[in-house]
Amino acid sequence: MGKATAAGLLTAALALVPAPASAQKFPDLALAPPMGWNSWNHYGCEIDETLVRRTADALVASGMRDAGYVYVNIDDCWQGERDADGFLQPDPERFPSGLKALADYVHERGLKLGIYSDAGTKTCAGRPGSQGHEYQDALQFARWGIDYLKYDWCNTGTGAAQRNPREAYATMRDALFAAGRPIIFSICEWGDNRPWEWAGEMGHLWRTTGDIVNCWNCELGHGIWSSFGVLNILDKQAGLRRYAGPGGWNDPDMMEVGNLPTLAENRSHFALWAMLAAPLIAGTDVIGIKPEIAAILTNPRIIEIDQDPLGLQGFTWIRTPEIEVWARPLADDKWAIAVLNRSDTARRHVLDFAAHPLADDLNQKFARIGERHFRLTDAWTGVASGTTRAPLSVTVAPRDTAVFVLVPE
Ligand code: GLA
Repeated sequence: MGKATAAGLLTAALALVPAPASAQKFPDLALAPPMGWNSWNHYGCEIDETLVRRTADALVASGMRDAGYVYVNIDDCWQGERDADGFLQPDPERFPSGLKALADYVHERGLKLGIYSDAGTKTCAGRPGSQGHEYQDALQFARWGIDYLKYDWCNTGTGAAQRNPREAYATMRDALFAAGRPIIFSICEWGDNRPWEWAGEMGHLWRTTGDIVNCWNCELGHGIWSSFGVLNILDKQAGLRRYAGPGGWNDPDMMEVGNLPTLAENRSHFALWAMLAAPLIAGTDVIGIKPEIAAILTNPRIIEIDQDPLGLQGFTWIRTPEIEVWARPLADDKWAIAVLNRSDTARRHVLDFAAHPLADDLNQKFARIGERHFRLTDAWTGVASGTTRAPLSVTVAPRDTAVFVLVPE
């Protein structure tokens, strides 16, 4: 047998051996922005298994699960210590039944369970981090039946000794993949290392900023750390839309809808996150949710904008100091338009599509509004609101946002 033939046989034989699964994030997850709830914004560290169970029940009872909010995500402070073999255990006082039992409870209700860990030695609240235990923790999460992991960036070292974020997030990505259970991987390094440029290979969503806080327009400093209001976070999304799409989303942080003082602010926050194709992770008390907040969070037309299958993030079309008009191209040649009033007084704005034709500079296949005509529906109410053939005069209450869906005539 000649050499060439032997090599050919070897190649043919190797082709029959399944290739080892190459390192990758789980495919076919988060094809639309993930929707669910997370404990942190409202409860901080004050969490236990009863709260998680009651929240799961409330997601069902409020209609939120049926509207799409399926991930029940436990944030920091669920952890106890590692056992003698290094396996992470839940806090025995707060989660005495264990995470497997909690996952079963949540799954029985048609929901999914999310959990939190950290790429450093400790989490932000000082619980054990996953550094050096990535494969063991990923295996533990998979065995428990976890469906979503938020992976934070505290205690990863400083200066030259800081962990390389690409290495750190790739290690946990590979560990999750090796553990074999499809788990959404939520990257939380606060936008410090331009994650939009590399995190698409690592996970399914990546935080773009520091933490959100329940104010309209503020920046709160805690030492070296700042938290940001809704408008502050919105303004930090400029230039990021090209990085988002099915399977990989910019994450402007979990929602404060229900935690902001006025209905107008809560409405605006929700509408803007939908225009941004943001993950819709509710951060309020769902057990005691007010009907008017549940109505905002379950508005079917706004959710449809967020979940649009093209997954194209919206952009600012018109910007004045008070009024900002956002536009987002949708599937089937539709558009969404949001008129945000940033100010504290009611404002009237005239949308004149003929005078200011609207186009998506990144995705030029979309019809220019002004050259083609559309019917408008008020997304909050479902009421027909004319066509783009005539200018539309919109009066927007202080800090409120009007939203329209445009369907080709
Ligand atoms: C960081 C994250 C928050 C939250 C806390 C928990 O600040 O950015 O979203 O998870 O840690 O300690």
